[in-house]
Amino acid sequence: MDLVGLALEERSSAKASGLEGVVVADTRLSHVDGERGELLIAGRRAEDLALEDPGHFETVVERLLVLAHAQEPRILERLAQARLSAFARVSQLRHALTLPDAMDSLLAATAQGSAGSDALSLLGALPVYVCAGARVRAGQPPISPDPTRLTAADFMAMLGLPENPARARALDAYLVTVSDHGLNASTFAARVVASTGSDVMPCIAAGLGALKGPLHGGAPGPVLDMLDATADSDPRIWLEAELAAGRRIMGMGHRIYRVRDPRAFVFERALDRLAREDRVESPIAARLAHARKVEQAAQALLRERHPDRPLCANVEFYTALLLEAVGIPRELFTATFAVGRCSGWLAHVAEQRHTGRLIRPAARYVGPTPD
Ligand code: COA
Repeated sequence: MDLVGLALEERSSAKASGLEGVVVADTRLSHVDGERGELLIAGRRAEDLALEDPGHFETVVERLLVLAHAQEPRILERLAQARLSAFARVSQLRHALTLPDAMDSLLAATAQGSAGSDALSLLGALPVYVCAGARVRAGQPPISPDPTRLTAADFMAMLGLPENPARARALDAYLVTVSDHGLNASTFAARVVASTGSDVMPCIAAGLGALKGPLHGGAPGPVLDMLDATADSDPRIWLEAELAAGRRIMGMGHRIYRVRDPRAFVFERALDRLAREDRVESPIAARLAHARKVEQAAQALLRERHPDRPLCANVEFYTALLLEAVGIPRELFTATFAVGRCSGWLAHVAEQRHTGRLIRPAARYVGPTPD
């Protein structure tokens, strides 16, 4: 085979494998080591960034933007101001906010309410749209943001959850941990749009669209369904039935990780801490013990089915538990993920603009030809 043939075959196999292992950008923002199970975000280990005191989401946003050459002054104030400005627009977004699916609603509200916005205005607007939408769909009035709070605590307050510093800290650890993760599908989507020279909102809309899918950000709701379904029985029986029906076990497996997702450890530790600190009576410890049992059963079963392909717990498995423990309704899990990941999208958009070219891969034509 000549060189052109080889290149074509290589490209077509990259396509068949979902671009697995194909490098399409240099990034300073995060690094995923799938063999060792390590994640660096803005040059720090995810667990240090998420669990250290006093770590918070706003600090990570700042670090990511600095690395992307998009340093912004007064991030705390501007995010708080952005939440207030977004809230002022909520009454005009009624149709978007009443769409029954939380991600559809967030996407529509973002497109309608944040067209032409700059990066920080968008980042501040997302939690407002998520919370206002949840309230409106439940027939309750939206709750105004409080600019003196950090994003995590304000998110809980705007949902109408009681003030609880331990839970706000756990949610903050969650937002930090999911802020960025290499060139995952939604970040890639956002970068592709950025590479065309488009403005910020359509890049974020692309990220939201990709995140909605169950193979990316849509898994944690179904993980809780799985934990509920196996609460009183042997998980292996339920898991075997799922596989026999041709379904995947949600929260298991990853494109990059060949070991347990390091973010699962971060969330477990955040949950252990929350179980100790939370003054409100909660079933976190029992839920965690059950989740570990289901995870072990799923991992053993998947090892039997795929002895050459390690399939371990991914970020979504313990996301489900953490967000449940914080009090977030399960239909908002993916939208809450978007609130955190939007910081990574924005940094990647800035980085793409700074260093990148138009992203335009090729397709191998396999369609009909004229006679
Ligand atoms: N449950 C059952 N089987 C799984 C599986 C899962 N969670 N994840 C992968 N597999 C199987 C695939 O069916 C495939 O089997 P086959 O070779 O017999 O067809 C094999 O493992 C390899 O999977 P592949 O599709 O190549 O993996 P991928 O890199 O494309 O997929 C995910 C990665 C995340 C999409 C996949 O693991 C998955 O669907 N997980 C469940 C959804 C989820 O938790 N998403 C959140 C990701 S953070």
